[in-house]
Amino acid sequence: MNAAIRAVTRSALARGVAVTGVRRGYAGLISAEFVDMNSRFVSNSLQRGGTILMSSRCPEMYERSGRARAAANLKAAGIGGLVTIGGNGSVRGALALWKEEKVRVVHVPSTVDNDLPGTDVTIGFDSAVNTAIGAIDKLRDTAASHGRIFLVEVMGRENGHIAVDAALACGAEAVFIPEAKFELKALLKKVQAWWAAGKSSLIVVVAEGEEVGGVFEIAKHLKAIRGIDVRTCVLGHIQRGGAPTANDRILASTYGAAASDALLAGKAGVMVSLHAGRLRLVPLSVGLRKPRPSDKSRFRLVSRLA
Ligand code: F6P
Repeated sequence: MNAAIRAVTRSALARGVAVTGVRRGYAGLISAEFVDMNSRFVSNSLQRGGTILMSSRCPEMYERSGRARAAANLKAAGIGGLVTIGGNGSVRGALALWKEEKVRVVHVPSTVDNDLPGTDVTIGFDSAVNTAIGAIDKLRDTAASHGRIFLVEVMGRENGHIAVDAALACGAEAVFIPEAKFELKALLKKVQAWWAAGKSSLIVVVAEGEEVGGVFEIAKHLKAIRGIDVRTCVLGHIQRGGAPTANDRILASTYGAAASDALLAGKAGVMVSLHAGRLRLVPLSVGLRKPRPSDKSRFRLVSRLA
């Protein structure tokens, strides 16, 4: 997110347009927590995780009165255009501000879940996958040395993008995601067959939104198999922190500059997106469609290569 904030700021400043930052996302918009953004404000930020402007979950944005206050604060501060950065909650707020209050908004897609519709990729996903991979490789060392099964839970509330990519990249034996039916019996059979065939460690990656109830539930069933030692690990918010990958820094810089350029070219009510390698603008409403599922062929490849 910092690379995007930096790109929006510096692109606009380079064109002689003043930039104001909003602290704590929509919460700060409603309480007018504004900060002048000069070029130095964003110095040395692009390699840092999190966001220098801070973020928040904001229930007031679900209320018409909250959105009206946000729009009034922008007007009072003489702000003529808004760049929002975030996932589907942020898009919902941006669309409401644009439709109801005529706030000129351009959105930048950013969520580790990577499931925002209308774009092939969101900021944060690549970094989250790489963090998950680093952790799973380490878990594999214990799994292999002790002859254990590790069930690793990764982020992904509604879709398993992180789970599928991390599983494929780590050579996990199985992956469970919300988009696919959970086949417990098949898993138990496979585990026994793998063990009988001489496998001495297994990694099973589970997306947090998976229907059976996460790694602890699945572990209960696996522990019933005699002679197999099972451990669980929930990676949680470590996937949302740390230095972003090169891909994410470049993506965020590109998206941020494009959002700034779009606003200054008079565009609004749109989201920056990447489709088949091409940068484009799509209506904000596209970002509110059904969340984008993970790649089916990658999902199937995990078990083919196990
Ligand atoms: O939307 C991204 C996401 O990382 C989900 O995968 C996860 O369930 C959620 O955010 C965690 O949210 P919070 O930080 O509010 O607990």
